[in-house]
Amino acid sequence: MEIFVVPTASATGSVAAGILAAVIRSKPDAVLGLATGGSPLPIYAALAGHTVDMSRVSGFALDEYVGLPAGHPESYAEVVRREVTERLQLDPAKVAVPDGSAADPERAAADYDAAIRAAGGIDVQILGIGHNGHLAFNEPGSALDSRTRVEVLTERTRAANARYFSTAEEVPLRCITQGLGTIMEARHLLLVVNGVDKAGILAAALNGPVTADCPASVLQRHPHVTVVADEAAASQLAPGSGRVAVRVAGARAGV
Ligand code: F6R
Repeated sequence: MEIFVVPTASATGSVAAGILAAVIRSKPDAVLGLATGGSPLPIYAALAGHTVDMSRVSGFALDEYVGLPAGHPESYAEVVRREVTERLQLDPAKVAVPDGSAADPERAAADYDAAIRAAGGIDVQILGIGHNGHLAFNEPGSALDSRTRVEVLTERTRAANARYFSTAEEVPLRCITQGLGTIMEARHLLLVVNGVDKAGILAAALNGPVTADCPASVLQRHPHVTVVADEAAASQLAPGSGRVAVRVAGARAGV
């Protein structure tokens, strides 16, 4: 595992975007796994500033709410369209999001899992981490080998995401999420974490036991993980948590 520690959230975006740009230059038809939420937004903003040909890049979103009407501005389909597809000028036909308004969401989830495999798998999966250790919307208790499926959101996750809705009640109760086993099949996992409020859970995930109680701890079992964290989020990591390769100006060694 390599861990980059940078001063600010904006710098996490620059470092992660640099990693992604290098991947796309070496593999122009790279398949990206696309996280939503606040953490990856600086990545997409920074990647838009790179001169890299995105025309053959494809993407799979990590998750989607179940039950929002099509076109709802906070559905991840819309967030991905606004923040990723349009900003990076990706071909919309090459960007998939689970179908949260499907009549049979479980079936839609299984189809999505199959579509990732049919595409040859994900080259780089961008990830954030929830305050309760969730990875995608795999809440605590999720099996470490789980597949893409319908999951019930915890109250903690709904409260955290209420900032995107007019009222907390509007946050959907369920979602379709890539499973932990699905995520673990991506060839490279790129976790971006910002803020002191994530420091404790990041340390638990990277330094604590691998357990379904902290789904993100499964990252410890993946052979190729890059963590990009700001100073605040990295502040509780144990010394020696990871090999830190300083490849980008502004990154600090020594965790
Ligand atoms: C988003 C996702 C979630 C978020 C996590 C952190 O697609 O799957 O796991 O990455 O909830 O959210 P933020 O970045 O908003 O703190």
